Amino acid sequence: MEKGPKSFSIIHPETNINNKAFIDDFVVIGKGVSIGSDVYISKGVKIYGKAIIKTGTYIGENCIIGHFQRNQLKEVIASKKPVTDFEGTEVIIDENCIIRAGTIIYSDVRIGAKCQTGHNVLIREKTKIGDSSLIGTNCIIDGNVSIGINANIQTGAYIPLFCSISNNVFMGPYSKLTNDKYMLRKEFELIGPTIEDNVSLGANSIIFPGIRLKKGTIVGAGAVVNKNTEEGDIIVGNPAKRLKKIPDDWK
Ligand SMILES: CC(C)(COP(=O)(O)OP(=O)(O)OC[C@H]1O[C@@H](n2cnc3c(N)ncnc32)[C@H](O)[C@@H]1OP(=O)(O)O)[C@@H](O)C(=O)NCCC(=O)NCCS
Repeated sequence: MEKGPKSFSIIHPETNINNKAFIDDFVVIGKGVSIGSDVYISKGVKIYGKAIIKTGTYIGENCIIGHFQRNQLKEVIASKKPVTDFEGTEVIIDENCIIRAGTIIYSDVRIGAKCQTGHNVLIREKTKIGDSSLIGTNCIIDGNVSIGINANIQTGAYIPLFCSISNNVFMGPYSKLTNDKYMLRKEFELIGPTIEDNVSLGANSIIFPGIRLKKGTIVGAGAVVNKNTEEGDIIVGNPAKRLKKIPDDWK
């Protein structure tokens, strides 16, 4: 481990920390964690489970990486052993990511290379995010979500369970996907929207459960979308209606 302070840190003996990684004070690193060269771990970070943090990644203050899932937590609580003793499920953060202060990433998550998070982002289990994606401040990704490469998910966006988001998708500030049309009625399964390549969602838009937004759809600010779209539609309003097709000179 490079000269980092590392006093006042708790580091499990069974870790694999590259000697060119920097580990600051007040860090907790659990069993089975692997940290690559030129990784920077800031003050107050906690890393659990089989986390693999690859070369050149920065982890900001007070992030939690490899947070245990609900069932794993039950096991931890019943064991009365320190959480650092559990290996959990793998979480991988690829090369050259910037994970900003306050981000919480659960186990069973894969974050591609050159991704960034803003502050206080939550990314729950069984989520995959492609390379060069940006997840803005205060976004919530509630698990079982796949996001392609080069996503730009802006401040406060909400992505619930079972959503599928392809490549180059833009989600404006506070836009929301939904997965539960009839809320408390248990007989309906949760089904998230499918967002195809190059779709843009305006600020504060809401996409209903199970809706498919075809390639290149543009959703206006504040739209409430309860119908599938065709490729290249621009839709606005509540309920959203087609305003026009994307003009040729916008492409
Ligand atoms: C949908 C959008 C791309 C359309 O842009 P445009 O083609 O230039 O549209 P115009 O401004 O020419 O408006 C055309 C008509 O649509 C209406 N309209 C435009 N956007 C609307 C919206 N979001 N909701 C409701 N109506 C809208 C206009 O009032 C206008 O109606 P009118 O002809 O009756 O006056 C744009 O208005 C929009 O909502 N962009 C999203 C901005 C955003 O949230 N960005 C996030 C990053 S900060």
